[in-house]
Amino acid sequence: MKLVAVCAAALAAAFPAIAQNQYQSTAYRGAVLHFVADPATSDHPYEYYEDGVLLVGADGKVKAVGPATQVLNTYQQVNVVDYSGKLIMPGFIDSHVHYPQTEMIGSFGQQLLQWLETYTFPTERQFADKTYAKSVAKVFLNELARNGTTTALVFGTVHPQSVDALFEEAQTRNMRIIAGKVMMDRNAPSWLLDTPASSYADSKALIQRWHNRGRALYAVTPRFAPTSTPAQLTEAGRLLQEFPDVYMHTHLSENKGEVAWVQELFPESSGYLDVYNRYGLSRKRSVYAHGVHLRDDEFASLAQTQSAVAFCPTSNLFLGSGLFDLQKAEAYGVHVGLGTDVGGGTSFSALQTMNEAYKAIQLHKAFSDTPEQQRPLTALKAYYLATLGAAKALDLDGKIGSFKTGNEADFIVLNPNATDLLRFRMQRAASIEDKLFVLQTLGDDRAVEKTYLMGKRVYVTTGTGGYDYGNN
Ligand code: GUN
Ligand code: ZN
Repeated sequence: MKLVAVCAAALAAAFPAIAQNQYQSTAYRGAVLHFVADPATSDHPYEYYEDGVLLVGADGKVKAVGPATQVLNTYQQVNVVDYSGKLIMPGFIDSHVHYPQTEMIGSFGQQLLQWLETYTFPTERQFADKTYAKSVAKVFLNELARNGTTTALVFGTVHPQSVDALFEEAQTRNMRIIAGKVMMDRNAPSWLLDTPASSYADSKALIQRWHNRGRALYAVTPRFAPTSTPAQLTEAGRLLQEFPDVYMHTHLSENKGEVAWVQELFPESSGYLDVYNRYGLSRKRSVYAHGVHLRDDEFASLAQTQSAVAFCPTSNLFLGSGLFDLQKAEAYGVHVGLGTDVGGGTSFSALQTMNEAYKAIQLHKAFSDTPEQQRPLTALKAYYLATLGAAKALDLDGKIGSFKTGNEADFIVLNPNATDLLRFRMQRAASIEDKLFVLQTLGDDRAVEKTYLMGKRVYVTTGTGGYDYGNN
């Protein structure tokens, strides 16, 4: 014991940072909010402490959360960081995004299939060059941090090196990223195609290199049914059999023309989802982006297989794809997370994505046959979808998405008064629910003051319009 103490003291003297981090917990004091259940099914879905503390251990994990006086009485030897007037909550989780499309966000005038041909495929071609891929991965990860997003499920391109580039960059920040190499062997330009055999081999090598290495997780990623032959979908299913704990990530029923095309390409199938089901692609940790045009039996099938849907409102509106039926997903018990779908989506901000989600649900009511049964999207549900709901959709709620003791301390510090208008409007918001709603409606990256990954700050606004990402 004595020797250990002497060594520790010597280390601490030589490395003061180690002394601080290794032997002490840090109490972040401010308004603290996190979810413990789905607001759609629970009367007590969240914990909120107006003067609260999030206590983070030296291991980067949540040690306690609660009223400040109570936590600080229990744990006395801690650093206290004062974030009074700010809102501390779990980092946002983006359930569907394409990092190579960062540079083509906001491309004009096309719906899905033409948009892919016109903008997406030429953009993704550049990711054959790993140096290029790295440069975009840096921009992408900076945008995530700047917007308070601490985990994302990410599409690479067909090039395995695009995924290496992303994981390498994520590793330098200790960021939990789930990603995969796109599998696509038909119906795209020849320079962007792989083959069933190469997609299997490349994906397998990436799984072996990255899955569960640090915080990295791998997703088998067929782009969508139209760009994969039956032989390739068979290989995707084989990968899931061989590596049962990896993810499956693809697109589903986004656009009416796409749905009709899938039926032509797979005439034996009974619908779009049935194509994926036939190849064994639907199970826990399978995440389908969009699901705008799903039939009732398809919602039932998603629930039955424990697959999840990424609700991507900014993309569904921008590409004119349609309006996702969140209430139906809820009724069937399908797991849903919120996704930005950049670059079909128009913002990296989870707050802005919630804002557009609210509007999409409002519009859905306007076009519904049973408008009286349609409910508006509450702020509580929106923040849930971007945190604990997304973590459940990704089967990661044992690690992230809430401040449960032992969870990885990925959290953000939001400034509810970040702009003049926010400050003015916020004075008239009485309850925490009102405040959250105003924040999602008027807020964006300007409201994100700090972002932490496993207790380490990776992003801070400098208050003068500048930023510091800490590590690049
Ligand atoms: N479907 C197939 N590929 C894509 C893509 O890159 N973005 C979107 N939004 N939908 C797709
Ligand atoms: Zn997408």
